[in-house]
Amino acid sequence: MFEELEKIKLECQSCNRCPLGKTRTNVVFSAGVPNSDIVLIGEAPGYNEDMTGEPFVGRAGQLLDKILASVGFDRHQNIYICNTIKCRPPENRDPLPEEKMACRNYLDRQLACLRPKIILLCGKVALTSFMETKEGISKLRGRWFNGPFGAKMMPIFHPSYLLRNPSHKEGSPKWLMWQDMKEIKRVYDSIKSDSP
Ligand code: URA
Repeated sequence: MFEELEKIKLECQSCNRCPLGKTRTNVVFSAGVPNSDIVLIGEAPGYNEDMTGEPFVGRAGQLLDKILASVGFDRHQNIYICNTIKCRPPENRDPLPEEKMACRNYLDRQLACLRPKIILLCGKVALTSFMETKEGISKLRGRWFNGPFGAKMMPIFHPSYLLRNPSHKEGSPKWLMWQDMKEIKRVYDSIKSDSP
């Protein structure tokens, strides 16, 4: 599994399947633990990620780490993090359909290697990459769907959205995220206690 992931990473590092290959500083392949049961898929690298080659290291990433820590998850111990595309779109715009398509094979191969039990679709770009739906993230977040390789898949809010909506009041996006994280942890724990 590790060798195959390294092979995919190497391919990405010389990838020019879409124009973002010309403008990137670094390919942002993944962070976290390859043999973990949870994969979180974000949108696309931003400035800080492009500079460092690691996903979710800017303000949104710092909030994501706090959210994960609130239920005992840690990117260095029990979660694998990647994005729908591996190179930064200019001005942090959403990835274009053709960019997502060009990059999709890498993501699918990563998931085939990892075969996670839980997939978290973080934000609308990840949501629409895996689910054909007219419903927005606000409607679908917090619900389990069938994902690839038998994974349980849940859409969740993107931390950038939570940065723009800082209220913690009951019913607010942050409060809903907290409910979703507790549900994710509950399912994670039950998977762990079932596995030999
Ligand atoms: N936002 C994302 O969706 N992914 C990153 O890696 C950073 C910010």
